[in-house]
Amino acid sequence: MSAPIDRSAGGGEGYSIVVEEVKPGVQVYKLVDSKTRFFESLWEIPEGITYNAYVVETNSGFLLVDGWKRGFGGLLVEELGKRGVLSRVTHLIVNHMEPDHSGSIPEILSARPGLKVLGHPLAGRLLRDFYGFAGEFKPVQDGGVLEEGGLRLRFLHAPWLHWPETIVTHVEDLGVVFPCDVLGGYGAYREVFLRQLSGEGRERYIKLAKKYFANVLGHYRDFLLKSLPKLREVVSKSDVVAPGHGLVLDRGDALEILSLYEKWIKRESRKILVLYASMYGFTREAATRLAKAMGEQGFEVVVYGFSDYERPLVSEVVSEAMDARGLLVAAPAYENEIYPTIRYVLDIIAHKTGCPRIFFLHVYGWGSRVVDARSMLGELKCGAIEVVDFKPSAASTIADPQIKRVIDFFKEAA
Ligand code: FEO
Repeated sequence: MSAPIDRSAGGGEGYSIVVEEVKPGVQVYKLVDSKTRFFESLWEIPEGITYNAYVVETNSGFLLVDGWKRGFGGLLVEELGKRGVLSRVTHLIVNHMEPDHSGSIPEILSARPGLKVLGHPLAGRLLRDFYGFAGEFKPVQDGGVLEEGGLRLRFLHAPWLHWPETIVTHVEDLGVVFPCDVLGGYGAYREVFLRQLSGEGRERYIKLAKKYFANVLGHYRDFLLKSLPKLREVVSKSDVVAPGHGLVLDRGDALEILSLYEKWIKRESRKILVLYASMYGFTREAATRLAKAMGEQGFEVVVYGFSDYERPLVSEVVSEAMDARGLLVAAPAYENEIYPTIRYVLDIIAHKTGCPRIFFLHVYGWGSRVVDARSMLGELKCGAIEVVDFKPSAASTIADPQIKRVIDFFKEAA
């Protein structure tokens, strides 16, 4: 018998811890993760991520809001212990059950067996299913209140943001709200507040917040729109907004990002996303000419190409697709089928952002695949669809009438 050959990479170096006050009586315990390259084992994040747990002091001890990623529970217990918090934690609030926050629950409960655990009614079942939890669980109702140690906490249900049992926890007396993944962002920041960044640093974080939003919450964008009034109301009543990832926000910054969510979901832009795959340059030449022509017509054009020398991050393509008014896709046939990378990326764009109107430029040598392309785009429930075939020689010398056809197609939606 021989041992399995395991080519997967485990955890290891690349983590650090930041503990800081975000408001008198409230501290963030941040696990800064520069090691993870693929969040949810799916999204490329060279920028890293943080997992933010929070500790709220009461007259009778401490409340712990969320935790760290599975595998880091021991480290969180150690940090809470070092600071004299662990032995006085009375309640654990579970804003949602994804294991990047709930994964430390087994170690926390093992260190504090009598802890009262609160969450959405569905979280009780998930606690059993994920961790075999059999302790004291208190389900919280939408609008429900916990009075504890001189503080009043209100819980709001936020279904499908982005799990069914997501809740938002508002510590009314302190003016602090914990909105779970909503208003979070990527980035292995050791800074605590967005207000600590300015200029390009701030712009970069807004981009990372958009990328996180598109990747993680995008599929449930309609639920986000429905929840916006509730979210705006609770943020308006708070001074500090403390999400499960990324930087802590002041009220004004949080309201600004909520407005951006709405703008992105409603595709309030003149952006056309050009997405191409090219093996030998014919399709790239067509896509480049069309992108230039659309730019000259006043469209904001963003181009991503999969070629023999570049491969964009799908996490970033999806982020750019989130608010694009339309997609121009140019791809060659591959073994007489739609190019596999394009098929994959379109599928994930449609799943996460919905599929806007799409012009598909299909370049082929052996045979037309217009029917296949139409069928694929139909299955993805794209808005208006136009599919055009080109021989490689025609694609690389794409003519003015064809350029006009593409521009007119996108102008229809402008
Ligand atoms: Fe950050 Fe959905 O967990």
